Amino acid sequence: MKEIIEKIKREIEEYRFDSPGSTEQFRIRYLSRRGAISLLFDDFRSVPADLKKETGKALNELKNLAQDILESNSRGSLSESAVSLNDYTRPGYPLEAGARHPISIVRNEIISIFSRIGFTVSEGPEIEDDNHVFSKLNFAPDHPARDMQDTFFISRLSDERSSVDDILLRTHTSSVQVRVMENEKPPIRTISPGRVFRNEAVSARAHCIFHQVEGLYIDTNVSFADLRQTLLFFSREMFGPSVEIRFRPSYFPFTEPSAELDVSCRLCSGKGCNVCKHTGWLEVLGCGMVHQAVLGACGIDSEKYTGFAFGMGIERIAMLKYRVDDLRLYFENDIRFLSQFRPVF
Ligand code: DAH
Repeated sequence: MKEIIEKIKREIEEYRFDSPGSTEQFRIRYLSRRGAISLLFDDFRSVPADLKKETGKALNELKNLAQDILESNSRGSLSESAVSLNDYTRPGYPLEAGARHPISIVRNEIISIFSRIGFTVSEGPEIEDDNHVFSKLNFAPDHPARDMQDTFFISRLSDERSSVDDILLRTHTSSVQVRVMENEKPPIRTISPGRVFRNEAVSARAHCIFHQVEGLYIDTNVSFADLRQTLLFFSREMFGPSVEIRFRPSYFPFTEPSAELDVSCRLCSGKGCNVCKHTGWLEVLGCGMVHQAVLGACGIDSEKYTGFAFGMGIERIAMLKYRVDDLRLYFENDIRFLSQFRPVF
């Protein structure tokens, strides 16, 4: 037996791992249940008693050597693992489940909440004209939002003529309410999610690209009470049934009166904490009754119809929901961040 052990030792030391599947062949030839080394172990029974100790030691050493050689060759060489990709008998790698982006999760939830109370979804172009982003929304010609500092212009034709010809990236999704009013007759009940663009330096608190959802409701006899009830429903569906809301007077050129909506801070139940800066309230969105001048500019009879509108930032809602307060994380697509939003099955 001693000679056979020596022979196999030489063989495995000189074994060439140079063909596809050669590590597997090595394993089968020497280490599998019917392999040469296993068979030697079977024969060990017939070794005379006085040689048992010495032979057993040599056999164990041979087996360890074969295992070491096999191991270093199966993980050592890249070319081996590349080649063995052709080995269709290998078990597959588990595929990791993907995760929806938090902005998509929140957008879908907003759509779902408003669709339950009869709102449709409308979309409009990201490359817009001044008319739909500013003029028809009652922005004065010298309003600062039209400034190059805030708006990405694609072509600015307004030097001698009127600014109405300017082509730009929309700075808010309110442009879609103009398009809807131009094209549809009341009753109108729609929300418009989408991407918006502003010329801002990127930081934790500001980004040049972000997402908004615009809401618009036009009909006869629509009042501020309808706006209030709609947004109360939305807030409780989104943040929880015990949430309270409040309106603060505000100003937007396209609504009159205008307000900003706050929801009570869920973390401290309104008592005051770091997240709500000790006010007990979190700012959520802007809203108001659609300005008569806007209805008129979009071809809606403002004697007959009234309406409300609101606009919210999706990142803002995601921040409140997930407490991720660095905006850049939403755009970097770092897999370590995104995988945390994997659905739990
Ligand atoms: N467009 C506004 C913004 O980007 C948000 C907004 C406020 C939209 C009030 C509205 C509204 O429809 O009524 O800041």
